[in-house]
Amino acid sequence: MNILVTGGTGYIGSHTSLRLIEAGHRPVLLDNLCNSSATVLDRIATLTGTRPTFIQGDIRDRPLLDRVLREEKIEAVIHFAALKAVGESVEHPLAYYDNNVGGTLVLLAAMQAAGVRTLVFSSSATVYGAAQQMPLREDAPLSATSPYGHSKLMIEQMLSDMAAADPRWSFTSLRYFNPVGAHESGLIGEAPQGIPNNLMPYIAQVAVGRRAALRVFGNTYPTPDGTGVRDYIHVLDLADGHLAALDHGHGRPGLQVFNLGSGQGHSVLEVLGAFSRACGRDLPCEIHPPRPGDVASSWADPTRAQAVLGWRARRSLDQMCADTWRWQSTYPQGYDA
Ligand code: NAD
Ligand code: WQD
Repeated sequence: MNILVTGGTGYIGSHTSLRLIEAGHRPVLLDNLCNSSATVLDRIATLTGTRPTFIQGDIRDRPLLDRVLREEKIEAVIHFAALKAVGESVEHPLAYYDNNVGGTLVLLAAMQAAGVRTLVFSSSATVYGAAQQMPLREDAPLSATSPYGHSKLMIEQMLSDMAAADPRWSFTSLRYFNPVGAHESGLIGEAPQGIPNNLMPYIAQVAVGRRAALRVFGNTYPTPDGTGVRDYIHVLDLADGHLAALDHGHGRPGLQVFNLGSGQGHSVLEVLGAFSRACGRDLPCEIHPPRPGDVASSWADPTRAQAVLGWRARRSLDQMCADTWRWQSTYPQGYDA
């Protein structure tokens, strides 16, 4: 299939595009490069022998979308493009509503006009808000604690309303838990700008000497070792989840929602320990107060994705750390350094 991948040069988009090529699809990557580098295209070419078609542009540019959908004969869309920093969304809510909600609106209108009616959407476990009961099933109550979370909820609502209005739409919303890791070659991975917000890239930068010590945000949570517990999922497992969702969803009417997680929780200290094993030395940490808005624990019930899509996460925490370390130690400054 010819598949438009919005946000295709980003962290998850690049790994998924690589997998799409390996599976015989033709991804067309559209990205405005606000949080990624075009260098990743060369790496995908090295790994697959195919340099994907790349269009530098914005999903809010309707004439551009009309042209790309038509000229590239697009049959389905995987929609990653979004801003994703929770804290930043609290400071700049309008930017998040404009980019994430407004951008998706333009994309859906262009798809409707072009008659392209299959879309796989990057949702997030953040739509479960401050849920207390674990593991999280897809039918758990939804809420949001940030404009970023609201933007994901609003988009899910848009998809649900459109699917109800016209049975020709085929939507799949994938709620990712905590994506980490890198391609096992070490050639592509996550390259956050500035100080990483997320745990794994922060630890990786400590390991490579760019940061002094991990700041552990809270050690008195009601968890086995007092630190926050999350469901980490290898980015290549996540990428494979998109292929399974596309296979299952294409041409199937309605909105389907799946958690993509491992179903297993790991604490901050467990992740630090696993990364220390991967890089071969004990990494330093300091205890800090809890980060505002954090929940103690969050992990998925991934039963539905396994039952319906035949997909499950396969890679262990040790492998997530080993692959992150290979990428980080080969390219300590990311793509363009
Ligand atoms: P990322 O920032 O690496 O990738 C997003 C890409 O979209 C970037 O390359 C960016 O340049 C591009 N982009 C942003 N706005 C755009 C626009 N208006 N037009 C064109 N391109 C635009 O982030 P990621 O981690 O790969 O996340 C991909 C998706 O998954 C996002 O929708 C994110 O909200 C969602 N998600 C991510 C996580 C996570 O922890 N990484 C968890 C849950 C959900
Ligand atoms: C994991 C654990 C922290 C950094 C966020 C978004 C969520 C989703 C994924 C997009 C927590 C602790 C972290 C650090 C730490 N993104 N931590 N020191 O908060 O589960 O989820 O990313 O949809 O919406 O909220 O992930 O990696 O930031 O934190 O101790 O320097 O690590 O407190 O317990 P989180 P995270």
